[in-house]
Amino acid sequence: MKVTLDRVGNLRGYYPGETAGAPTFVLGSHLDTVPNAGAFDGVLGVAIGISLVQLLGGRRLPYALEIVGFSEEEGIRFGIPFIGSLGWLGELPARVLEAKDKAGISVRETIQRFRHGVDGEAPNEPSRRAGFLEFHIEQGPVLDTLGLPVAPVTAIAGQTRASVTFRGSANHAGTTPMHLRKDAAAAIAEWILAVEGIARSVEGLVATVGALEVLPGASNVIAGECRATLDVRHADDSVRNMAAQKLLERAEKIAGARRLTVEHWTRMNQRAVPMDACLLSTVEKAFLAVGLEPHRTVSGAGHDAMIIAEHMPAAMVFVRSPGGISHHPAETVLVEDIEMALRVGLTFLDQLIVEELR
Ligand code: GLV
Ligand code: MN
Ligand code: MN
Repeated sequence: MKVTLDRVGNLRGYYPGETAGAPTFVLGSHLDTVPNAGAFDGVLGVAIGISLVQLLGGRRLPYALEIVGFSEEEGIRFGIPFIGSLGWLGELPARVLEAKDKAGISVRETIQRFRHGVDGEAPNEPSRRAGFLEFHIEQGPVLDTLGLPVAPVTAIAGQTRASVTFRGSANHAGTTPMHLRKDAAAAIAEWILAVEGIARSVEGLVATVGALEVLPGASNVIAGECRATLDVRHADDSVRNMAAQKLLERAEKIAGARRLTVEHWTRMNQRAVPMDACLLSTVEKAFLAVGLEPHRTVSGAGHDAMIIAEHMPAAMVFVRSPGGISHHPAETVLVEDIEMALRVGLTFLDQLIVEELR
């Protein structure tokens, strides 16, 4: 493959097709990960894409292949996920470009300062992209419970991510009586428990406060400010939207009752996305051809495929996560499952007729 690194940090390999100008089919996943992560979330899908090209052994297909290792899928640095795939699509909205990291550096500045990347018109700029397939660990227990190595994905659940800041007054921990305090840490603690309670009361809803900052952050100072992240997901977009609104309203109520202020802003609101029916059927035919039951599954985690699906036919294949563990160092895969994923992938590439994709 000819390999380039683009301005958004995506690592892209291009494998030409039989004829110049043939459409390009894309395989890939993300290269970034979460703090204290496992070794497979994201990068496995990139490694599978590269391995499939290797397994072709120089044989050309009626279409070109692009293998992408996307940057910034998790949303750790800027609080906004899918920056790599949005940039690859040429779709980075101002809201994302203006988002800042903890040091106050924006996405826009980061891209401008990134000297190693090349602009869109790289020598290997692909022809029309016909579709996208992402291999990814399941990150949950379903395949493990069913004893299945791999499974086709039919849809990806939507997600809302928000930042919430409670502001009270920092003061001396020894001299300020309890009834005169405006303690941002106590307020946010009350809100986190409310988030948990509300999420538990709605079937299928998950809501998480996963990152917290207590300022100024000293044992003998009452917290003047507390910053938190909120992540809300549900398979039904209307349930998710209503829940996110309710959780943010609860933050306002709790702050008001304690005479604090709260500020919140929604960093991302991504709808649930179905996978492409035609690609899904090609994936399922590949499962059957290698003797596997194509047991359909839905993704609770977010993936680059959900962003790409807005622009071209997209599909996913999940690989079993033993123990259902992910975003944790214990995350793992079975070698024999990877073999099955490669068999499915190679059969899929051989059976794929890109002209049939919309
Ligand atoms: C990606 O890992 C997500 O948060 O779903
Ligand atoms: Mn992840
Ligand atoms: Mn991932």
